Amino acid sequence: MIEHGTPDVTPATVDVRPDNGSLLKVTAVRAGYGDSTVLEGVSCHVSAGEFVALIGRNGVGKSTLMKAVTGRLPVRSGAVTWKGVNLERWSSHRRVRNGMRWVDEDRGVFPNLTVGENLAVAGKPLPRSLAYSVDAIMDNFPKLREKSAQRAASLSGGEQRMLALARAIAARPELLMLDEFSEGLQPSIVQELIATLREANRDGLGVLMVEQNVRLAVKYAERAYVMDKGQIVHEGTAQALREDEALLQRYLVV
Ligand SMILES: Nc1ncnc2c1ncn2[C@@H]1O[C@H](COP(=O)(O)OP(=O)(O)OP(=O)(O)O)[C@@H](O)[C@H]1O
Ligand SMILES: [Mg+2]
Repeated sequence: MIEHGTPDVTPATVDVRPDNGSLLKVTAVRAGYGDSTVLEGVSCHVSAGEFVALIGRNGVGKSTLMKAVTGRLPVRSGAVTWKGVNLERWSSHRRVRNGMRWVDEDRGVFPNLTVGENLAVAGKPLPRSLAYSVDAIMDNFPKLREKSAQRAASLSGGEQRMLALARAIAARPELLMLDEFSEGLQPSIVQELIATLREANRDGLGVLMVEQNVRLAVKYAERAYVMDKGQIVHEGTAQALREDEALLQRYLVV
């Protein structure tokens, strides 16, 4: 999708070598806040190049799982592994350097930097050779090129989300995790961003999409997990889920 010079290193792999198994594996993870436990033994996995959805009603623990996976919330028991390596002692920064990337609802851009500057620093945690150039990424997001001199704060919500996605893709992660990516966006913008995401996915990017927008998630994912009350209550192909109206009604806002 994005033209660039031949990288001299395997993309976004610094500390560990890729293998053919799961990229990300979550095993019986418990985590929470203070005295409360939110995740009650969650297990799930994403393989290289897979498009996986994690869906469930609000407050069931989806974002808490994202925080535990990305190193922003301690795992109380169980394990998170990346290419078979236990991430227990890995900082969020180290996870990014090794090919994980995430975009939350409210984060992902520096409001006071211009669009161009935001893209230029996107690959900063990585060895220089791994990130896409600003030019290459702007070829893929022409709207961002038009606005490259504007401060990110001056962009619309949809454009900021586009910038966040562009920044994430620019860093050439192996797994991109999106938390409520579609929330508050016009359907036409969601379609546009999803198209870009799918293109990156076809090029090998693994995607974990956390969504309350179930219809959207099961439309594009290959596989889906349904979460309820801090547990995974269903796992299967997205196609099977699309056809299981009873399950959708039971656990999800549809
Ligand atoms: N920082 C926090 N401190 C204490 N409790 C929290 C914190 N963040 C979330 N919680 C609680 O943890 C539970 C799970 O919240 P979480 O944000 O993981 O749900 P979610 O599935 O992402 O919901 P949504 O779909 O609304 O984003 C909720 O009961 C919530 O109130
Ligand atoms: Mg959430």
